[in-house]
Amino acid sequence: MTARIIDGKLIAAELRGRVADEVARVRREHGITPGLAVVLVGSDPASEVYVRSKHKQTQAAGMASFEYKLPADVAQHDLQALIGELNRDSHVHGILVQLPLPKSLHAETIINAIDPAKDVDGLHPHNAGRLAGGSAALSPCTPLGCIILTKTVHPSLEGMNAIVIGRSNLVGRPLVQLLLNEHATVTIAHSRSRHLKQLCAQADLVYAAVGKPEMVRGDWIKPGATVIDVGINRLSGPDGKTRLVGDVAFDEALKVAGAITPVPGGVGQMTVACLLVNTLRAACAIHGLPPPGV
Ligand code: GUN
Repeated sequence: MTARIIDGKLIAAELRGRVADEVARVRREHGITPGLAVVLVGSDPASEVYVRSKHKQTQAAGMASFEYKLPADVAQHDLQALIGELNRDSHVHGILVQLPLPKSLHAETIINAIDPAKDVDGLHPHNAGRLAGGSAALSPCTPLGCIILTKTVHPSLEGMNAIVIGRSNLVGRPLVQLLLNEHATVTIAHSRSRHLKQLCAQADLVYAAVGKPEMVRGDWIKPGATVIDVGINRLSGPDGKTRLVGDVAFDEALKVAGAITPVPGGVGQMTVACLLVNTLRAACAIHGLPPPGV
């Protein structure tokens, strides 16, 4: 038996379609065009690819897209001044500062300068705190995408055993909170956890977000479990070509799991789709409209 492959590409495209329909309705009924501002500092090639993709998909959904490209040596106070301008700009409903930032900048101070109502990354302590307290909040996009993908297999996560491997602010920690809000039982593991294999073997839901290529092996997986692979690692083969692999040994896990996300074509596609959802939600909340239907 081989696992069902969860088609993140298709699920993300459907979600973007629903966002586009809701954006069209908000524009028609209220004359409001949701707007997303993305700030890129420096010229990291991977970040440039992500930012271009965000720009294209934002426009395709009928939203306004504002791009700011700053040199790697931009001064901290200049970047903060830009954030202040975007906070005050009524055409901007979502602000995303692409991470990682150059080491010379203090990322936490920058994130804390974003108006929490426009924090579509869900990284501001106001939103992270609300999420941890179980109240509605703008939540980080990748974990939101993970939950949506899981629910295509299990519409209810109540009482399921989940393991989250990884504890970053962008993925692991908020994912734990979202799973708790879905009434799952959650084990939080990370690169220094002991007996990871045994912990993993008890999980109905496995989330791998450690950034270690193919670390989770097939014999770690409980037969029939759902595996969500957040890792995107570039490996170079003997032929000099590079290939993308996740944090899960896909071919091994495919033989044991009940359902699994591929890399690429799994979680990665969902992150931008969820960013569009958050921008639409933020625009509705800022204008006092009811939450959108996505
Ligand atoms: N870099 C990689 N993923 C993300 C993300 O979801 N948000 C931001 N701001 N930067 C990222």
